[in-house]
Amino acid sequence: MKGVIFSELIRWVEESYSPSVADQMIRQAQLPGNGSYTSVGTYPHVQALAMIGQLVEITGEPVNALAEAYGYWLSARFAELYPQFFVGFDDAITFLKAIDGIHQKEVTKLYPDALTPSVIAEVDGQDLLVSYASHRPFAEVAHGLIRGYIGHFGDDLVILRDETTPGPHAARFILQRK
Ligand code: HEM
Repeated sequence: MKGVIFSELIRWVEESYSPSVADQMIRQAQLPGNGSYTSVGTYPHVQALAMIGQLVEITGEPVNALAEAYGYWLSARFAELYPQFFVGFDDAITFLKAIDGIHQKEVTKLYPDALTPSVIAEVDGQDLLVSYASHRPFAEVAHGLIRGYIGHFGDDLVILRDETTPGPHAARFILQRK
């Protein structure tokens, strides 16, 4: 997985907890590179799972809540780091419908060895169904990112979870107008 996801995870912990919690997390996770990631580098995603696992140990918070919170925070960072991907979008539904193409075309243009997840958004009557699938177990991060973009665009949508696809490798989210 691209280094940006790891370096932002560390930044999130530094900002949301403290630099010393981030250091402790990195130390306890016993990472091969001691937590140094370049955004263009590629690293095993288990290193991110190891860091979140240690953050669970340190904070006592549940793993799903931490992964979701990271996704939510990351949504704003993506908007800062990649403003070009947001040009022309005014609402979360249109943006989410385009995200699979953005992952596959734009993200892979930037990072040719990226293996982006499948994020398919389709209109179902009044609702938007967003289906996540990946060989990586990051359904909660996807949940946080979706929540983040609803906030980013200021849409009046609530996210329901289809409990028949509980994750972590796949999940279906139902976005409904309030
Ligand atoms: C403009 C916005 C976005 C950008 C720039 C972006 C970019 C990226 C990048 C660079 C990766 C790493 C891919 C790799 O290492 O192979 C990634 C992974 C991921 N993206 Fe996005 N993404 C965006 C929006 C979203 C949204 C809206 C979702 C919501 C479902 C999402 C879900 C994920 C997840 C869960 C991963 C982790 C890897 C995995 O699950 O396989 N992304 N994204």
